[in-house]
Amino acid sequence: MAKNKSVKRHSHPGRGGRGATHPKGRQLDPKAHDQILDLLGDNLRSRDLLIEFLHLIQDKYGCLSTKHLVALAEEMKIALTEVYEVATFYAHFDVVNDQTKKPPPITIRVCDSVTCEMFGAEELISALSKKVPPEVRILRAPCMGACDKAPAVAVGHTQVAPATASVVLEAAGEKKLSRDLPDYIKFNEYRKEGGYELFRECINGIHTPENLIEVLNESGLRGLGGAGFPAGRKWEFVRAEDGPRLMAVNADEGEPGTFKDRWFLERDPHRFLEGMLIGAWAIEAQEIYIYLRDEYPEIRKILLREISKLESSDLLEPGCIHLRRGAGAYICGEESAMLESIEGKRGLPRHKPPFPAQVGLFGRPTLIHNVETLYWIRDLVQKGSSWFTQKGRNGSKGQRTFSVSGRVKNPGVKIADAGITVRDLIDEFCGGMQDGHNFKGYLPGGASGGILPASMDREPLDFGTLEQYGCLIGSAAVIILSEEDDTGDVALNLLKFFEDESCGQCTPCRNGCEKAVQLLENKTWDKPLLKELSTVMQDASICGLGQAATNGLNSVFKYFPEDIK
Ligand SMILES: Cc1cc2nc3c(=O)[nH]c(=O)nc-3n(C[C@H](O)[C@H](O)[C@H](O)COP(=O)(O)O)c2cc1C
Ligand code: SF4
Ligand code: FES
Repeated sequence: MAKNKSVKRHSHPGRGGRGATHPKGRQLDPKAHDQILDLLGDNLRSRDLLIEFLHLIQDKYGCLSTKHLVALAEEMKIALTEVYEVATFYAHFDVVNDQTKKPPPITIRVCDSVTCEMFGAEELISALSKKVPPEVRILRAPCMGACDKAPAVAVGHTQVAPATASVVLEAAGEKKLSRDLPDYIKFNEYRKEGGYELFRECINGIHTPENLIEVLNESGLRGLGGAGFPAGRKWEFVRAEDGPRLMAVNADEGEPGTFKDRWFLERDPHRFLEGMLIGAWAIEAQEIYIYLRDEYPEIRKILLREISKLESSDLLEPGCIHLRRGAGAYICGEESAMLESIEGKRGLPRHKPPFPAQVGLFGRPTLIHNVETLYWIRDLVQKGSSWFTQKGRNGSKGQRTFSVSGRVKNPGVKIADAGITVRDLIDEFCGGMQDGHNFKGYLPGGASGGILPASMDREPLDFGTLEQYGCLIGSAAVIILSEEDDTGDVALNLLKFFEDESCGQCTPCRNGCEKAVQLLENKTWDKPLLKELSTVMQDASICGLGQAATNGLNSVFKYFPEDIK
């Protein structure tokens, strides 16, 4: 049949190839592209810097708009979907499209995690919601590491704690969105009192990595981020792998109730930095990545300043230390999720094995440590392992740094003997219970560590001592409850936290947390179903978040029958 030439073949706009009259996909807005070029400046368009670049856009424009994300994808030569999936994963990014409105200029985040809830977060949210002007929005947020001053709020990135509605609104009105830096030990002061001598001795060959590993093994220093893995053994494992090797520091500190890393970094950052450099020297790491949570902007300023002093000294070549900024995702504290995030991706925990010591950051053998683990290295080596091992009580050796919050007179960071009981912690270190409060129970290890009753106040607090009761010391975040507190409500608060923070990668955790919250919100709990759900979550979740999410709930079943609904 002869073709009728006046009727043209339909050309699908997305088909590409000859005949396509429109370019594919979202179109680049030249003005937005120029703005992105300005922001990115001379930075390498390296894939792992994606989150850093998203921060630059969010900080400058108050949100991530489609036109900027398109321009960023173009500039970094990556797919727009990749940019979207990363940007939408993190709570501190506001992704807006052509239909959604830009968020108001000021964001007030109110912490509604467990200690802040005990100290009136809900009342604060209601009071603020009634009074905020249109240029301000209120959001709920997880623990900000200010639990000893609960309730805590962040106006922009500036923390206000303890917060009242009037103080918060005043801060929002002043638009003074940064805090003065704390008074900390600076580079010159630190060096004057012998700082970096040990690191110098290491690089000058006075110590060997094997010597140092021996000291760590003798002292029994364990990872203080929560898992408690022996530090010396980790160094051995990483050294056993072929180079090049890397180091990553976990400064994400997101476990509700924990604020010790913040305390160390705000006081003596170089003691941590020296420990970090020694660890990197021992495993011959080529580069070090520090992953710092976004909730600690003052610490970011301190570290940037002090690292640059180190770089201009004779101790360090510039460019070996990279400071990376988290973006409001608790799961990025899990070490393999942290590695993903440093690589500029969503914080989805990896399946193990292989462990990061074998295949870690950028596929390299990687030594990962918590801030506090590194903080103690200098003291351990210079004072000797016996300085550490002679401390301890009730059969435990060493010391632990407890972040204590809740119903005690003097909450805060308490460096105490490993194995101390909660009773002694309250009486010797915290000035006793708050007036009018009777001790009812305690969370020994933040949101993940379960809840113990006051009748078990003589249990030694240490790694390995509480597992028999279904509890954990974890990062040693001890939250003290009184008769005023309902452990059923606490269990619900914990599960809401895990529901929000689950990365969503595996079904038992993603659906399990959500389902558990629904069941706990009912007037009467379906106990058999909750217990079954908890077993599945513990047994089948990929990472520690899902495995530990119901520890608090199980403790209520075991130890607080009066609080079961
Ligand atoms: C859900 C989850 C969250 C975690 N959050 C943190 C954290 O915020 N900071 C931290 O140092 N470790 C955290 N950890 C523990 C890390 O996975 C890892 O064990 C630690 O960083 C290793 O350093 P360390 O041996 O010095 O403790 C978390 C673990 C899990 C399962
Ligand atoms: S357990 Fe939860 S947080 Fe961990 S990988 Fe699964 S979904 Fe993600
Ligand atoms: S700051 Fe609110 S619970 Fe930690």
